[in-house]
Amino acid sequence: MLTAGEFARSYDRFMLDARMQQVYASSGYFNVGYWGAEIAEQPEACGELVRRVAGRRPRAGERWLDAGCGTGAPAHWLQDGAPEASVIGINLSERQIDEARRRAPGARFAVMDAARTALRPESFDTVISIEAAFHFRTRAEFLGEACRLLRPGGRLRMADILFAEAGHLGEWMTPEENRIRTMEEYAAELTAAGFGPPRLRDVTAWSWTPFCKRQHAMAGGREREFWRRMLTDTVRHYLLVEAEKPAASQAAAKATAEEGRWPGSAATQLPSTEESAGRWG
Ligand SMILES: C[S@@+](CC[C@H](N)C(=O)[O-])C[C@H]1O[C@@H](n2cnc3c(N)ncnc32)[C@H](O)[C@@H]1O
Repeated sequence: MLTAGEFARSYDRFMLDARMQQVYASSGYFNVGYWGAEIAEQPEACGELVRRVAGRRPRAGERWLDAGCGTGAPAHWLQDGAPEASVIGINLSERQIDEARRRAPGARFAVMDAARTALRPESFDTVISIEAAFHFRTRAEFLGEACRLLRPGGRLRMADILFAEAGHLGEWMTPEENRIRTMEEYAAELTAAGFGPPRLRDVTAWSWTPFCKRQHAMAGGREREFWRRMLTDTVRHYLLVEAEKPAASQAAAKATAEEGRWPGSAATQLPSTEESAGRWG
């Protein structure tokens, strides 16, 4: 198992690979994109995925967290249309965070593990995570962390992948525990983490499939075989995920039922941690 530092360095090398550089150019995105009818180029598709995951831009005064923020293009889009909101991006990779700071000077960034942040409980209105949660060690821990960070009624919105054969991408990228297979299991993980009934949409046909078909068509030699396997055997479900943290009254009732205590007792209090533990920019 790689340490966090080793994972970040391996990920940086993967992003800087000539093939990946060719795909994403200097867009700052690193996702497969959402290929609506009018979309012809990769950066456009990446931006469309961000818009679909986010649902809307942040409103004035809101606080949004982007978990697994890449090199900052999604945070830049969010912050650009909402200068009076607070957008925070976190990533394991220092190199990517440095690039994100240059790309999105209006947002704030920190080197942090999304599965165990040093951020204050109930301090975000929305947590987004685009094509990153399958990397987290583990996804289940991240979902618990996201629920802790959201205010009651706050929203989690993600693009995430359930793999059929994660090995094609590289075993190191996806912890064994994250390799759940069905949307039902995925929904159960969200509920176990404390979220209300989730909405899951399989958008493989508009995301993973067109991305791989395009790469396959452009590839030559051994690369063609790689993209064929990516297209046909690798992914079971590419998901758009939405869930809300229950409002305070519902959460308190759940805690009371589960722990036999009264609302407002220690069962509903969370330990306080400090944002200052992260490196802000
Ligand atoms: C496929 S990229 C997506 C980047 C970005 N969300 C986008 O759409 O352009 C996955 C990102 O997750 C980051 N990542 C992986 N594991 C992480 C972790 N445990 N905590 C924070 N970020 C992580 C990677 O460094 C990478 O930037």
